[in-house]
Amino acid sequence: MINWTTIKKSIIGLAPMDGITDAAYRELIDKYSKPDVLFTEFVAVEGITHGVTSLFKCFLRHKTETPIIAQLFGSDLKAFYKATFIAAELGFDGIDINMGCPDNNIMKKGGGGALIGKPDHAKNIIKTVKEAVNDWYEGKSMEDAQVAPKIIEWIKSIASPSFSKRNKLPVTVKTRTGLDYSVTEFWISQLLEASPEAITLHGRTLLQMYKGLADWVEIEKASKLVRQTSTIFLGNGDVKTMAQAKKRIEEYDLDGILVGRGTLGNPWFFSDKVPTLKERFAAMVEHSDLYLKYRPELKLYPMRKHLAWYCTGFEGSRAVRDRLMKVVTIEDLKSILSSLQT
Ligand SMILES: Cc1cc2nc3c(=O)[nH]c(=O)nc-3n(C[C@H](O)[C@H](O)[C@H](O)COP(=O)(O)O)c2cc1C
Repeated sequence: MINWTTIKKSIIGLAPMDGITDAAYRELIDKYSKPDVLFTEFVAVEGITHGVTSLFKCFLRHKTETPIIAQLFGSDLKAFYKATFIAAELGFDGIDINMGCPDNNIMKKGGGGALIGKPDHAKNIIKTVKEAVNDWYEGKSMEDAQVAPKIIEWIKSIASPSFSKRNKLPVTVKTRTGLDYSVTEFWISQLLEASPEAITLHGRTLLQMYKGLADWVEIEKASKLVRQTSTIFLGNGDVKTMAQAKKRIEEYDLDGILVGRGTLGNPWFFSDKVPTLKERFAAMVEHSDLYLKYRPELKLYPMRKHLAWYCTGFEGSRAVRDRLMKVVTIEDLKSILSSLQT
């Protein structure tokens, strides 16, 4: 379990990224550079409690000492309650609630970033997840929480006995600065009323999506507010190097930073290592092998984007990337890489 309040300061962790921070990515990055904390991709509470099997794959995980936080999104309180039991039984080290996703489909259903416009409901979600964490800690079973029998069966088939120790899991929130414009101080004060153990703030509004630059002045405003409480505060947005992460922590008086896109194609991100081309090619194969270990049914189609991210900055890299966009099997990948001189 992660204890956000006693964890060393200057936390630098891997941000959640849907379609990217899956089990293979987390395992690889953990092995290569050990971030302080790892987040899963976000998982829809309504979907997972209705037994949408593809979502269970997001909750596959490797064994590690590094805390892994399960991120949930949605709007329905009952589904949040049950999904918290599912994540707890699977041995995750904390539950993070997504209140910042700008995707229209998610927002229309009242989840993700839409919660910024509904602070009372947002606080109820935090309260519900905390209740679920508490009930699970005190010994309630998945049956008590009315998790569907087929889901219980699946969990029992994959959960390791070492995961069965019941800890009081911390409940955290990841969010943005506002809907159309920043309302950081109002919104963060609302969240603080529900006392989440940590808040991560991505310094953009929902309207901005990923455009422009993250606004670190807004992050600083939030940091000043959060400082007056026992909640841990992490900044997020556009950090590209470890040196930059450390500087921002100092500059804006943060407990830490989460990094997302800066890690793409660079599982060494959280160390000081600059890999050689040969090492990058080896990581491409290792990453692909891991991917197939967790998702053999998908072949290497979803890995193509990762392969392109690894494959930059050398003469002829563009042509190699074009070839990589056609790989389906590990043999295809190895054959392309072996034809290159490193
Ligand atoms: C492809 C992609 C998927 C993302 N998925 C999630 C997600 O599942 N949950 C979440 O809270 N944020 C998600 N984000 C947002 C990131 O966690 C992060 O807040 C954002 O990318 C800014 O940080 P960065 O500049 O370090 O990438 C996603 C971002 C990207 C680019």
